[in-house]
Amino acid sequence: MTALPWHLLPDNSSVDEAGRLSIAGCDLVDLAAEFGTPVFVYDEDHVRARCREALAAFPDGVAYATKAFLCKAMARLAHEEGMSLDVATGGELHVALSAGVPAPNLVFHGNNKSEKELAMAVEAGVGVIVADSFSEISRLAGMATTEKPIEVMLRVNPGVEAHTHDFLRTGATDSKFGISLAEGLALEAVRRIRQAPGLELTGLHVHVGSQVFDVGSFGKVIEVMAGLVSHLGVSTLSIGGGLGVPYVEGESAPTITEWGAVIGNAATAVGLEAQIVAEPGRAIVAQSAVTLYTAGTVKEIPGVRTYVSVDGGMSDNPRPVLYGSGYEVFMVRATSAERDRAIRLVGKHCESGDVIVWDGRVPSDMEVGDILATPVTGAYGHTMGSNYNMVLRPAVVFATGGDARLVVRRETYDDLLARDLD
Ligand code: LLP
Repeated sequence: MTALPWHLLPDNSSVDEAGRLSIAGCDLVDLAAEFGTPVFVYDEDHVRARCREALAAFPDGVAYATKAFLCKAMARLAHEEGMSLDVATGGELHVALSAGVPAPNLVFHGNNKSEKELAMAVEAGVGVIVADSFSEISRLAGMATTEKPIEVMLRVNPGVEAHTHDFLRTGATDSKFGISLAEGLALEAVRRIRQAPGLELTGLHVHVGSQVFDVGSFGKVIEVMAGLVSHLGVSTLSIGGGLGVPYVEGESAPTITEWGAVIGNAATAVGLEAQIVAEPGRAIVAQSAVTLYTAGTVKEIPGVRTYVSVDGGMSDNPRPVLYGSGYEVFMVRATSAERDRAIRLVGKHCESGDVIVWDGRVPSDMEVGDILATPVTGAYGHTMGSNYNMVLRPAVVFATGGDARLVVRRETYDDLLARDLD
């Protein structure tokens, strides 16, 4: 019978005497009425504060990983705050450029960038392309000329196994990402890049996984990489992203500042002189948003459990079904109330696995029509959403200083037909 853990809410959250929650001065019951549900509500100043914290922790540079959450408003925000942007597909590249982010401020990732995507990046003049494989080095070598050189970093797989979900782990030797340090493969890749006229190796890149709580893994990466970075004389080491965030009661995670300190101290300890840059996604946006839903069907199965169905589900948050991820749920008109009724929060899709919160709790007076919210849904929710069952993708609202602005409108039924030809 616990109240919602306050630390899971966005920074600028407040509760009035009646118990109603506001984000950045915007009442959530009112926002649900104005914009409809489901809706993602972002605390804009929370995102800005995390960008600033990241830049202070990594003064040599930070690229925001757009896969966590991307729309034009977000791309502009990150750019305004002085971040570069990490894009990993032609689509992310297109959105960032359309938002007006200058191409030199973009880092282009991906384990299978096509010729077309690489050409698009080279044509636009992206700042750096991260070569992920021998195939890609060949593709890039075929495009570069000494007149128009291409700056590349090499993604190295350091063989460090970060403690996280198997699907979120990327730094182990058996991975589709990067070129392994083992067997001299990374050195061979560097040789090929340096041999190619027009390719300029500016640094090495590593990304060992996502939702990592044990920042010691990052210190380990620095130890593993320091020798190679110095040996090659490259100017930059990108440590990637991966810092975890708390999602549920009882979880806590290091701050971005602590993450930066562990990495900085590890670099000092091994005498690494290269610039260290980072690429956080989740740690910037995850806790800045909540998703609002409307409670629809309530089904009590005596002696078993109560299912509360809402108007979204795996189409706006596939993480529970993909990774078994945990979330909290609460009622925005009684934010601090004891949540004494056990429920399972489910979506409206035709799947038994369409679960948003496996073991949720709400106050016992929750009724059909109440606005329910799941906190910490700012990362990998909207970007990983789908149209399954032709459910419309939610709207996205940015709240700041008492104003709420729609930055992504809700999908319409006509949008669902926009690509159908006859
Ligand atoms: N840099 C690279 C090269 C990456 O692949 C990623 C994430 C990041 C940076 C940002 O990582 P972050 O700081 O957000 O952990 N869909 C999964 C997460 C996949 C992460 C993929 N790469 C989830 O919902 O947990």
